[in-house]
Amino acid sequence: MEFFVDSAEVELIKEVNEMGLVDGVTTNPTLIKKAGRDHEETIREISSFIDGPISVETLSEDAEGIIKEAEVFSKWGKNIVIKVVMNAEGMKAVKELSKRGIKTNVTLIFSALQAMIAAKAGATYVSPFVGRLDDIGHVGMEIISDIRDIFDNYSMSTKILVASIRSPQHISEAAIIGADVSTVPPAILKQLLKHPLTDKGIAAFLEDAKAWKQND
Ligand code: G3P
Repeated sequence: MEFFVDSAEVELIKEVNEMGLVDGVTTNPTLIKKAGRDHEETIREISSFIDGPISVETLSEDAEGIIKEAEVFSKWGKNIVIKVVMNAEGMKAVKELSKRGIKTNVTLIFSALQAMIAAKAGATYVSPFVGRLDDIGHVGMEIISDIRDIFDNYSMSTKILVASIRSPQHISEAAIIGADVSTVPPAILKQLLKHPLTDKGIAAFLEDAKAWKQND
């Protein structure tokens, strides 16, 4: 499974990237707002040290506008993926962008059927939001399993990019199902390295090493 970092905060992305945890980056208007910096400048800076795909979200509400934005955003870095919302205009744009060889990530996916439609339109990635489904009392991970089955049934090459991740548990469940990518907030990525028994084991090894070092 690939790990993307779901953030527009350059320093946090750098930190997890240095730990070898980053295969790509996803951003959205909310994350850009949180970072509090200019959109283009932020994406260009991320692209200067991340080689993997960087998703940049379009804001236009019609296909023509989305396509124009896509052409501009594609020049902001070496591996830009155009994020498009799931609706009729979005799907028109994805179809055209796919013809032009521009990679897309269809976002705000909340059902397996929406994912299948995006894949049929030619999306490179679909982003189902598991946490937001859990928030309203659904089991978000169920749609990941359904999407995996549908894509496998029809040999669809669109990648499942699990988004709105709230815990390491979401990531392990998504990996067991066979999702291609998890996009993860930096704080949760760092949690993946942690286990209380690892910390306890490190402390015990260091303590024991002190004893034999004193005997040297
Ligand atoms: O990339 C978008 C997605 O991960 C949003 O997550 O936490 O706002 O539901 P969240």
